[in-house]
Amino acid sequence: MTTVVLLGPPGSGKGTVSEALVEKGFSHVSTGDMLREQIRLKTPLGVEAKKRLDQGKFVSDDIAMQMIEGLLEDADVDQKFLFDGFPRTLVQAEKLDELIRTKNLILEAVILLECPNDQLVERLSGRQTCEQCGAVYHLSYKPSAVDGICDQDGGELKSRTDDVAETVRKRLEIYTERTAPLIDYYLEKGLIHSVDASRSFEKVRHDIAVKFG
Ligand code: AP5
Ligand code: MG
Repeated sequence: MTTVVLLGPPGSGKGTVSEALVEKGFSHVSTGDMLREQIRLKTPLGVEAKKRLDQGKFVSDDIAMQMIEGLLEDADVDQKFLFDGFPRTLVQAEKLDELIRTKNLILEAVILLECPNDQLVERLSGRQTCEQCGAVYHLSYKPSAVDGICDQDGGELKSRTDDVAETVRKRLEIYTERTAPLIDYYLEKGLIHSVDASRSFEKVRHDIAVKFG
């Protein structure tokens, strides 16, 4: 099993660039999407997670690790994963290293999506997501053909509850405090590939496809 990690602040385009790598055979694993699915199903984990996500706070490292370990248990040996939003703390990065040692998992690269904060705020404030299939749009940069309706399945488009201005500020703060230290952690291991994610969809997508295709 191999994995590539997507590292970057909220709104840097982790979910968006994942599409380019899924086309190349990667299985997309977003811990954020997994948590939102639990919230939608109103499971006990979902009920707990909703309180944290709506405040812009992380769930515990234990919960994040349980989700990833559960997934790896069912994986095929030749599967290629794209971790989007995991690891997100130094503890999670160290625990991922443990899995690399014990589960024959190879960490190929860490793609760092870099984008200035004012652009992140603009992207998140205009983001819309399909309630049914999770497709992601933007009111200005990637509008749906019909206002409020998903092009793919006609589902209703909504803003994420953690995309309100105050929560976005909190998420950006927590990223700087708890996730940004992973940049040095992976630089020391020689795994970081930086991508200027502030450019157009096409340019970012092209870079990713060329580097990791
Ligand atoms: P998660 O869902 O991963 O949220 P996030 O990290 O805040 O990132 P986003 O999904 O908001 O942004 P993105 O980088 O995917 O950008 P997107 O492609 O959508 O996690 C949510 C929460 O779950 C966390 O806050 C935490 O509470 C919890 N959680 C998750 N994992 C955890 C873990 N491991 N441990 C603990 N807690 C965890 O793009 C954004 C917008 O910009 C879209 O509208 C898009 O159309 C637009 N856009 C993208 N690229 C471009 C471009 N090049 N040009 C113009 N617009 C663009
Ligand atoms: Mg995302």
